[in-house]
Amino acid sequence: MDGAAVDSVVAEENGLTVPMPDGSMDYFNFWWLRDNCPSSFDSETRERTFDIFHHAMMPRPERARIEGDSLVIDWANEAHVSHYPMTMLAQYSRGNPRPDPADLPRRPWFADHHATLTRVSHPALFDSAAERQRWMEALLVEGIAIVTDMPDSDAALTGTAELIGTIRPSFFGAYFDVRTHVKPTNLAYTSKALELHTDVPAEELAPGIQFLHCRANSVQGGLNLFLDGTAVANDLRAADPEAFRLLAETEIPFYKEHDDIDMRARQRVIELDRHGDVSGVTISQHMADVFDLPQRVLDSYYPAFVRFGRMLQDPKYVMRFTLRAGECITFDNHRIVHGREAYSATSGERYLRGTYTDRGELRGKYRALVSEGRFK
Ligand SMILES: [Fe+2]
Repeated sequence: MDGAAVDSVVAEENGLTVPMPDGSMDYFNFWWLRDNCPSSFDSETRERTFDIFHHAMMPRPERARIEGDSLVIDWANEAHVSHYPMTMLAQYSRGNPRPDPADLPRRPWFADHHATLTRVSHPALFDSAAERQRWMEALLVEGIAIVTDMPDSDAALTGTAELIGTIRPSFFGAYFDVRTHVKPTNLAYTSKALELHTDVPAEELAPGIQFLHCRANSVQGGLNLFLDGTAVANDLRAADPEAFRLLAETEIPFYKEHDDIDMRARQRVIELDRHGDVSGVTISQHMADVFDLPQRVLDSYYPAFVRFGRMLQDPKYVMRFTLRAGECITFDNHRIVHGREAYSATSGERYLRGTYTDRGELRGKYRALVSEGRFK
C-alpha cells in the first residue's frame, strides 16, 4: 500500500492520513498505530503486553480502511488485523496529552481561609466515596483539608493516610511524634517557635502529602501556622519577575546531618508544573545548607530569596489557628508552608503524630474515584 487512497485513507511514507468523523484529515504514524492496536493491552492486568521492540523494521499496512466507527488495518508481513475505534484515534490525533481529571486548577488561598477550609469527618471518609473524593479534590485544588472526629489512636492516622496511599517513610522513619523531647534532634521536638517551612527538603524527593494528627493540645501558645506557598509565589511573579525566575530556576542545597546520617539534596524554592504555573515551593531554613553557588550569583540570588522569605511571613498569607485534639490536618508538603508559634511546655500537653504519603498516589486515587479509565 503506497501512496494510494483506500476508502479515503491515504498512506504516506511513515503513516496514514485518516478521514475523521469531524471532517478533518488526521495523520497517524505507522509505529504508533501498530504499538497501540487495542489488542496490545491485556484486559486483566491492564498492562501493555505487545512488544514493539520485536519489530526491526517499521510496520506497514497491507490494507487500511474505515469500517463503521473504526479504522481497520491488515498489517503486511504478519497475520494481524487491528481495529481502532475512531473515538480513540480522535483523542490522540493532535498530540494533546491524555485528559487528566487530577490536573485541576489550583485555587490560591490567604490568611482568612480557616473558616472555609474543607473539613471531612473520619467516619465519613470510610463510609462514602463522595467524601473521599471531596477530600482529595481539596488537597489537589487548595493543597489542604482537615479531617475531624479522628479516634485517639495510632491506627486512625495510619488508616486515614492509607486511604490515599502507602505510608511513605522518610529517613527518620514511617511516623514522627511532635512533642517536647528530653534530647531533641530537631527544633520541632522543643517548645520553641518553629519557623515556616516545608518538610524534609534534604531528601531527594521530599514527602508529598503530610498528615498531622493532633492527639492533645492544651498548652498556652503554640498556634499552628499554615500558608499557601503558591499564592505567595504567584504574587512574587507579578511583583518581581526576575526574583521569581531566579527562585524557579536555581537549585540550592539542603542537608540534615546527625551522628549516623548525612542527607543532602538540591531543590528549587519555586516549583513549576508542565504548564509553567507555580505548583509548589520548598523552604526550610533549618535544613538549608551553606549556599555553594558562585558568590556573584549570590549577589542577585540572596535579595530574591530574602524577599520571598519575608513575603511568606506577611500576615496577608499566614493562617493562624489552634489545631484541636481529634483533628488531622492533611496538606501538600510541596505547596503548603507550615510552622508553629512558641508555647509554654509546662502549661499542658501537646502531641501531634505525623506521617506522609506521596503526591502521585493522591492523583492516582482521585482519578480512580472520578474517571472513566481506559479499561472502564
Ligand atoms: Fe514540619
